[in-house]
Parts: sequence; C-alpha cells; structure tokens
Amino acid sequence: GQLEKGGYPHFMLKEIFEQPNCIRDCMRGRINVEGTNVVLSAIIDHKEKLLKAKRFIIVACGTSWHAGLIGKHLIESYCRIPVEVEYASEFRYRDPVIDENDVVIAISQSGETADTLAAIDLARRCGAFIYGICNSVGSSIPRSTHTGSYIHVGPEIGVASTKAFTGQVTVLAMLALTLAKNKQTISNNEFLKIVGELMSIPDKMEKAIQTNNQIASIAKVFTYAHNFIYLGRGYSYPVALEGALKLKEISYIHAEGYPAAEMKHGPIALIDEEMPVVVIATHNGMYDKILSNIQEIKARKGRVIAFVSEGDEVISKLADICIELPQTTECLDPLITTIPLQLLAYHIAVCKGKDVDQPRNLAKSVTVE
Ligand code: AGP
Repeated sequence: GQLEKGGYPHFMLKEIFEQPNCIRDCMRGRINVEGTNVVLSAIIDHKEKLLKAKRFIIVACGTSWHAGLIGKHLIESYCRIPVEVEYASEFRYRDPVIDENDVVIAISQSGETADTLAAIDLARRCGAFIYGICNSVGSSIPRSTHTGSYIHVGPEIGVASTKAFTGQVTVLAMLALTLAKNKQTISNNEFLKIVGELMSIPDKMEKAIQTNNQIASIAKVFTYAHNFIYLGRGYSYPVALEGALKLKEISYIHAEGYPAAEMKHGPIALIDEEMPVVVIATHNGMYDKILSNIQEIKARKGRVIAFVSEGDEVISKLADICIELPQTTECLDPLITTIPLQLLAYHIAVCKGKDVDQPRNLAKSVTVE
C-alpha cells in the first residue's frame, strides 16, 4: 500500500531515492571510520582459497550480470586475476572448463534465480569454490555457496532492479579492494584514494538524485521515441547496458546498450534525427574518446543526451541535452551514473502510463529456467 511506499508513487522511485542510505548500510562495518581498511569477512575467512585462485568466473542474469561486468573490470584492474563473466543460462548448458583452482562468484538480488542456482551446482560439482553476492538473506543461493557477502540494501519490491545493482557494485568494489590489499597488487596511495572516494559515494548519490526534476522534463520530450541507443566505454559500458535494460523493462521502448567505439562497426547506420542517443561522458580516462564518439553521432544528426561531470563546458556545446553529475574516481563512476538512467527510464514509463512496479511479462525472481 501507500504506507509501504513511504509517500512515493511507486516502489521503484522509492528504491531509487533510497540508494544513498542503502549504500551506507552496505558499507557499514566493512570500512573503518578512518577509511584506511576494507574488510569483507568472507574473504578473511577463506583467504587461502581466494588469494590462490587462478581465475574468477562471475555467473548471473540480467541486471546482476551487468554488475558482474563492472566486477570483472575492478578485479582485473586491482587484483590482476583474470575474470570471466557468464550468463548463468549459457554457462550451465555448456560443459565449461572449470576446476578447483577457479572461484565462481554468483551474483543475485533474489537469491532464487533458477539458472544462477543451476550454474552454481555445476561449478560446485567441478570442484570450484563458490562465493555468493546476494540481497535476500537466507534465500537459496546463499545456502548453496561456500561463502559470500550480502549487499544489505533491504527488500527490493520493484521488478526493475535499482538499489540492488548499486549494492552489488559496491560489494564488488570492496571485494576487489580487500583482495588487492592482501595480494599487494595495489599501491597504498591508490587504495586509500579509492576507499576515500567510496566513503563519499552516498553523498554524491544524493546529488545525482537531485537531477530528478531535470530528468522528468527530458522524459516528456522523449516519451514517444520508438528506439534509444545507450553508449559508454570502460566502466560506463555496463552502465549503458543497464540503462537500456531499465528502459526496455518498464517503458517497452526498444533500447540498445553499446560500447561507444563499436558504433562505427554497424549500429551507426541506425542514427538519424529521430534517434535519441544517451551517452555517459563523465570526466575519466575515456573522456577524449567518448567526445569523438559524440561528434560522430552529431555529424549524423542523432539527438545526444549526455551525462557529464560537473563543470564540463565542452560537451554542453555539442550535446542536445547535458546533465551534470558529481565526479568520482573512474572505477566508482557507475555508482553515480546509473542513478539518472534509472530515473530516465522511470519517468518515461510514467509518462506512457505504464505499470512501473509490475511491468508486463516480467517476474521479480525468475525461478523457472
Ligand atoms: C532487472 O531489472 C531484472 N528484472 C532482471 O534482469 C534481474 O536482474 C534478473 O532476473 C536477475 O535476478 P536476480 O538478481 O534476482 O538473480
């Protein structure tokens, strides 16, 4: 009822707005107040197994799989361990090459997704060590893993996953930091810088949420678009996929997420003056590259909706619409940039009069294969 929604019109909006506090809960007791140490107890308890792993394999579905792509980037960058990210539904039917030197990370909000559970069973039979990252306490996946970390973001009711995604990414960041420190694959300065940034994420999320009114008015302009393209590079590529998935799920508008540089290998043929292109173009190592991708789109008259860092004066001259977001360190950027994309999907769906919390054809947890 209305009471549980805490005054919000939908659970999804409530859950988007809750994210700063959810991330505070997720980090509580895992980062010390001085910001000098990160401890996921599951890692300390199974140090031997995790530090010696030759490879990590992440298995998940949907939004949780997108979080996995960010996890791959984090773990490879800071821990120097190869990581593969698999759709659980593909992995389980493939007779994958896997043994006791592998650690499988299963990511699931509900902890009940049938394909993810089956992937875990298969990996376990092959001798892999299984680490779960889940939200629902006591659900099936945490019970079938060797160890794991809860994301602690509270129950997620909206079918479109929002706060679970940012919670998963936060746990993956803490996991990468804990492992990297123990493996000594990260410098002390870099470690302290990222932990400090992680601690400031909830406040920056509050600022990202303040784009809500601006996003609501943009949504009105694009309510009747038939297609959307979402672009990002590096850490922002999975965010583009996630933004597109949110739009498809609740507004029923076709949307594709793409790594921006892949455009020229085909999808750029789709660009015309009708095509809204959402670009994540915050100030990080990929900035110059994404800038030239925006120029390519404008040259073909696409309508660019750019998400940039505060104070950007270059992209605002190029893009049709420019939304400023607080800046953070590159690897944590998805925690900020995801929020306005959730809001954009939400407001477009509301403008179309769709049932945001219970979109057609979808269930909150997919317990069938
Ligand atoms: C996300 O908005 C989806 N509804 C869906 O993709 C979901 O993330 C997927 O079914 C996986 O669910 P899980 O995290 O509960 O395993």
